[in-house]
Amino acid sequence: MAIQTILIYPDDCLRQVAAKVEDPKADSIKALVQDLADTMYDAPGVGLAAPQIGVSLRLAVTDTDWKNGRYEEAEGAQGVRNLKVWINPEFIWKSEEMASYEEGCLSIPEYYEEVSRPAVVRLRWQDLSGAFFEQDFEGFQAVALQHEFDHLDGKLFIDYISPLKRNMITRKLKKHFK
Ligand code: NI
Repeated sequence: MAIQTILIYPDDCLRQVAAKVEDPKADSIKALVQDLADTMYDAPGVGLAAPQIGVSLRLAVTDTDWKNGRYEEAEGAQGVRNLKVWINPEFIWKSEEMASYEEGCLSIPEYYEEVSRPAVVRLRWQDLSGAFFEQDFEGFQAVALQHEFDHLDGKLFIDYISPLKRNMITRKLKKHFK
């Protein structure tokens, strides 16, 4: 178990385009997934991408279930958590229909803004065995996945809000965390 430091915007690593994971079966990737999961649950958050702990690779973890009451009901119990690992994720289709959710980010603490994104997405990704999967996602899962995978392209949810609000958040975070 290794909880890593979560980088805070405007750290440069958060703006880089991450590199493809060449060997999902590598021990180093398994260790990275463990670190990401430990750090995400500790934060606590529902998703964390590798660039947020300073590793510029196309990999993220999510658990969109554990904060929906299921975790509280069985605190301490293993198995309630529903960790998902996404390696080299790629959206192969997005709906024209949009949906809005209030988003936050562990790298942009204490700020929440309404963001509009495609309501349904079709994703292709690999798991730790290197196998490929394809599936459609909607609702909060679609939001979480689009948010996390934006991190792999150096994008943040504040890129979708007005420049005025974004500049205000940038100024405040610079003051607090530098
Ligand atoms: Ni984020």
